[in-house]
Amino acid sequence: MPHPSDDPYQTWISQIRTSKKYREVDLPEETVRSLFEQEMPRHRNPKDALQAVREKLHNIVAPYLGDPDYTLMAKELEEAFADGDPQMVKFICAQILAAHASTRERMDILEEFYRRIFATIGRPARILDVACGLNPFAFPWMGLSNMVEYHAYDLHHPRVELINHYFRLQGLQPLARVQDVLVRPPEETAEVAFLFKEAHRIEQRQKGANLPLWQALKVRYILVSLPLESLSGKHNLMERQRHLVQQVTQGQPWHVSEMIFKNEIIFVVDKGYGA
Ligand SMILES: C[S@@+](CC[C@H](N)C(=O)[O-])C[C@H]1O[C@@H](n2cnc3c(N)ncnc32)[C@H](O)[C@@H]1O
Repeated sequence: MPHPSDDPYQTWISQIRTSKKYREVDLPEETVRSLFEQEMPRHRNPKDALQAVREKLHNIVAPYLGDPDYTLMAKELEEAFADGDPQMVKFICAQILAAHASTRERMDILEEFYRRIFATIGRPARILDVACGLNPFAFPWMGLSNMVEYHAYDLHHPRVELINHYFRLQGLQPLARVQDVLVRPPEETAEVAFLFKEAHRIEQRQKGANLPLWQALKVRYILVSLPLESLSGKHNLMERQRHLVQQVTQGQPWHVSEMIFKNEIIFVVDKGYGA
């Protein structure tokens, strides 16, 4: 370990992690450090690099997409499970899903979404939910048994804690963890990885960063979903999203097919095709 005074980024990393904007998120140090390592060589003036890191982080953490009240939701989940009322549990999960734009936009297709996914790839015993956000709260709509190993990865500490709290109450193993999947791709094996609504942000963070992640994932299928409408609802994004996935997968021995929903497209990347 380098001595703190030998570490050129330590002061700035601490400043960002303890800033009002990110204090509660409790960002992993590995994320902020990797951004400094990426941006410093690109800027002559360190202040410009600092600004670039801040802009990247804003897009990665995306606080504008929304958050539930984590403490309140933990309590409401406990009460719903204590009452033994599955409908109430589903209602609280729906409230949590609705607090973040990515999952809110999926609410009215949720049943169809997972029915079609598992009809296509089969029912997995293990899932990796990569950059999961609040998606694990869709578990009651997935039609899976509590025996499933649901690994979930996110940068956002309170999100990961609430997911593990829910997993324990639900009888699942608490397999959510704070991990920057670009710095340390998941090591776990599974039938499927969900990479929902994040691949375009990954490219914005670091051009070309999707390919090493997709290569590293030890799964048969990667389900890469992307939005078909922008947040403002103005643009039809179908061709742009197809282009992104083609760029990543070209030259790879993978088969890609599509599942189209009202406002989201899933690219089913089959890494074991022909194996
Ligand atoms: C746009 S949301 C998508 C959420 C979810 N996949 C969905 O579609 O419902 C992105 C989430 O990924 C997380 N995230 C972004 N970059 C990440 C990374 N490199 N490693 C782990 N999590 C990441 C963010 O904290 C956020 O919760």
